[in-house]
Amino acid sequence: MVMRILIASASGQLGRATARYVLDRVPADDVILATRNVDALAGFSADGVTVRRADYDEPESLPAAFEGADRMLLISLHELGRRVDQHRNAIEAAVAAGVRHVVYTSYIMVDPGCPSTVVPDHLRTHELLDGSGLDVTYLRNGLYAETPVTQILPPAIARGVLVDNTDHARGAFVHRDDCAAVAAAVLTSSGHEGKTYDVTGPESLSFADITALASKVSGRPVGYASVDDATLDEQLRAAGIPDDVRGMIVSFGVSLRAGYGEPVTDTVQRLTGRPARPMIDLMEQHRTLLTGAPTAP
Ligand SMILES: NC(=O)c1ccc[n+]([C@@H]2O[C@H](COP(=O)([O-])OP(=O)(O)OC[C@H]3O[C@@H](n4cnc5c(N)ncnc54)[C@H](OP(=O)(O)O)[C@@H]3O)[C@@H](O)[C@H]2O)c1
Repeated sequence: MVMRILIASASGQLGRATARYVLDRVPADDVILATRNVDALAGFSADGVTVRRADYDEPESLPAAFEGADRMLLISLHELGRRVDQHRNAIEAAVAAGVRHVVYTSYIMVDPGCPSTVVPDHLRTHELLDGSGLDVTYLRNGLYAETPVTQILPPAIARGVLVDNTDHARGAFVHRDDCAAVAAAVLTSSGHEGKTYDVTGPESLSFADITALASKVSGRPVGYASVDDATLDEQLRAAGIPDDVRGMIVSFGVSLRAGYGEPVTDTVQRLTGRPARPMIDLMEQHRTLLTGAPTAP
C-alpha cells in the first residue's frame, strides 16, 4: 500500500529541508506539503508535489489540507503559550482526517524538571499526542547549531566578547539539516511508531569552545565571559529585550548548566547512514557572516 506523507509547516527551514530529503526517497505523488504560504512552495508544485494551504490558527483550513495523509510531520511552532492551541488544532485535524502516525519535532531539553521556558509547551503537546490515539514518534531535536553561528556569534564577534550565563556548560549542538535528514528517514521507513529519538550533534561544546572555534574561522578575536543569571537578565533588560525572550535566554543558560543539552547520541548516523556534522562545518558555511561582522562603534 502506498503511504502518503504529509509535511506541515512546510515552508519553514526545517520543513523545506525535510521535504527535499523525503523527495530523494519517495515519488512526488506520495508527498503532500501543507503551508500558510502556497506560493512559497511553487518549486515543489512544479515538481509534481501536492501543496495545500493550512493555517493552524484557522482549524477550518485543516481537513482539506490533511486529507489522504497516512503519516504526518508536525513541526513545533514558535509562539510560546499560544502554540499549544495551534498544535491541538493540528492534532485534532490529523485524527479527523484519518492520519495514523504523527512524527513530532520535540526538543532535547523536554523534561518536567527542566527550567527552560520553551519546555512546558512541548510537554503539553506530548500529552495531547499521547492522548490522541495516534501512533507517535518523538524527535527530540538538539540545540540548533544555527542559533550560535548565525545569531549569537556575529554580534559577539563585533563586540569582541560573548557574554552569557552558561558558565562552561556544554551542549551537543546539531545542524538543523541533520534534524531534517533524520525526520525524512523516519517519515520514509517503517517501525518508528512509539519510539523517541534524541537527535544531537557529534560533540558537546561550551560557549567558550564555540567562541574559540569562531575566532579560528573568522580570524577575529572573540573572548568569552559568564555572568550570573541576575546580571545577564539586567543586561538584556537594559538592551531592550522583551520579557519573554529574556526569560527564554536566561532559562536556557540555567538548563544548560543543569546538563539538559549535553548528551551526545548517534541518532543521525544510525537513522541516516552518515555522521552528524560538527559545529565547525556550519561556521565554515557561514564564514562570510562571521568574518564580515561589523565592528562595534
Ligand atoms: N532545537 C532548537 O534549538 C530550536 C531552535 C529554534 C526553533 N526550534 C523549533 O523548531 C521549529 C522549526 O524550526 P525552523 O527553523 O524550521 O523554523 P521556521 O523556519 O521559522 O519555520 C517555522 C514554520 O512554522 C510555521 N507556522 C507558523 N505559524 C503557523 C500557523 N499558524 N499554522 C501553520 N504553520 C505555522 C510556518 O510554516 P508555513 O509558513 O509553511 O505555514 C513557518 O515557516 C520551530 O518552529 C521551533 O519550534 C528549535
